[in-house]
Amino acid sequence: MNILIEVSYLIASVLFIFGIKKLSSPKTARRGNFLAALGMLIAIVVTLLDRHVLTFEWIIIGFVVGGIIGVLMAYKTPMTGMPQMVGLLNGFGGGASLLVALSEYYKMKNFPMWTFNDATNITIVLSLIIGAVTFTGSLIAFGKLQGIVTGKVVKYPGQHPINVVLFISLITAGAFFVIDPTLEALVISIAVVSLVLGVLLVLPIGGADMPVAISLLNSYSGLAASATGFVLQNNQLIIAGALVGASGIILTIIMCKGMNRSLLNVVIGGWESAGSTGNANSNSSPKGEVKSVDSEELAMIFDAAENIIVVPGYGMAVAQAQHAVRDLVTLLELKGKKVRFAIHPVAGRMPGHMNVLLAEAQISYDKMLSMEEINDDFPNTDISLIIGANDVVNPAARNDKNSPIYGMPILNVDYSKTVIINKRSMNAGYAGIENELFFYPNTLMYFGDAKDAVAKLTQELKNL
Ligand code: TAP
Repeated sequence: MNILIEVSYLIASVLFIFGIKKLSSPKTARRGNFLAALGMLIAIVVTLLDRHVLTFEWIIIGFVVGGIIGVLMAYKTPMTGMPQMVGLLNGFGGGASLLVALSEYYKMKNFPMWTFNDATNITIVLSLIIGAVTFTGSLIAFGKLQGIVTGKVVKYPGQHPINVVLFISLITAGAFFVIDPTLEALVISIAVVSLVLGVLLVLPIGGADMPVAISLLNSYSGLAASATGFVLQNNQLIIAGALVGASGIILTIIMCKGMNRSLLNVVIGGWESAGSTGNANSNSSPKGEVKSVDSEELAMIFDAAENIIVVPGYGMAVAQAQHAVRDLVTLLELKGKKVRFAIHPVAGRMPGHMNVLLAEAQISYDKMLSMEEINDDFPNTDISLIIGANDVVNPAARNDKNSPIYGMPILNVDYSKTVIINKRSMNAGYAGIENELFFYPNTLMYFGDAKDAVAKLTQELKNL
């Protein structure tokens, strides 16, 4: 039986690895998702068949209640709310690791047939600390993205020394626990201090850095699960946790590069950096004339253009304008224009957000180019059409050292001959800062909800 279980776990692990590999390309991503889900099904069924399970009642209750909540959340959460949902789910993973570690501790303490040993003690303490930090850190991240907790950079005197002291005391208490695990107060203290540390680490992180923090917490939840796998001596959990931990940290590094944040800054939490030192209101307000166009004038400008780059952003997702954008692009191509999409790594509210929406509207992946692939082409572009994007094209990231987004790589739309910006108002984007691009001489504002505005433009182009 044991061999059967271990072989099934191995098959599930191989399915996870192939699943992740296939997720790296949009063309194979669906199959990758299916393979990984199949791996998880095998892992769950095999774990339930394992003779360690004594009674199924609570498992069935948890399965039904959790399943209903999960299905409701998946249906109710809009695409734009995905980062918070991921944040919350990471938190549950961390919380589960914390609870498993505590229950294993009490099992060993209270039942004579189980005995503590150094290896188990180390893994229990790791599972406790990482699980608790992930749990409260993720809840704060969820609160920040949901608007329940302030999205601003929160600073207080002695912030970093306090974190360092808490961290050192956790390590020291952990070492004492390994030497003498019978002291219950020590275990409770480790759990409580770790819960507090999770809050203190994430609270200072500003809204603009939150996606990176979520991704990092995702990685932590994997590490916590892996540590729990050692506690339970479950190879499947060790491997799955390690995979989540590794892929989470890879995504974190990619996002750090996309937003020009240092990884250390995010790990330590709100550490001073070029971006985070800035105050959202500190940059001198851009001034000048704002020129706006209506759909009729715009259609004539597009009619004369040859080379067009579309830059989608969060506003396109809010307006669900992707199908209208597809119709516009199809018409422009029928008129002989070259049209491509420029995708910023953190456009929208989650990695790959724009690609998913455009693909949903049957726009081919070949037309979606990453920032590195397309950024040098803007000077040879007639029109950059920005649909509901703001921060990812804000030149303050290049020009204003006091700006919270200073140093973040941006799409160089301002180098193109004409910049058309579609949004509803002059309001700021996610980072809460004004955009000097709106005032540039080669910029034209095209105000309106993205879906309506793009549909109107398409209609005017047809009328020409
Ligand atoms: P944002 O800077 O957030 O700007 C979006 C703009 O869309 C807003 O200024 C808004 O202006 C406009 N808008 C909203 N609803 C609209 C509608 N119905 N029609 C037309 N326009 C609409 O978006 P971005 O340029 O995509 O940048 C993403 C930001 O989110 C970055 O700061 C990034 O760091 C952050 N972030 C990214 C992620 C990931 S991983 N992608 C996750 C979390 C946060 P109006 O109100 O004037 O219309």
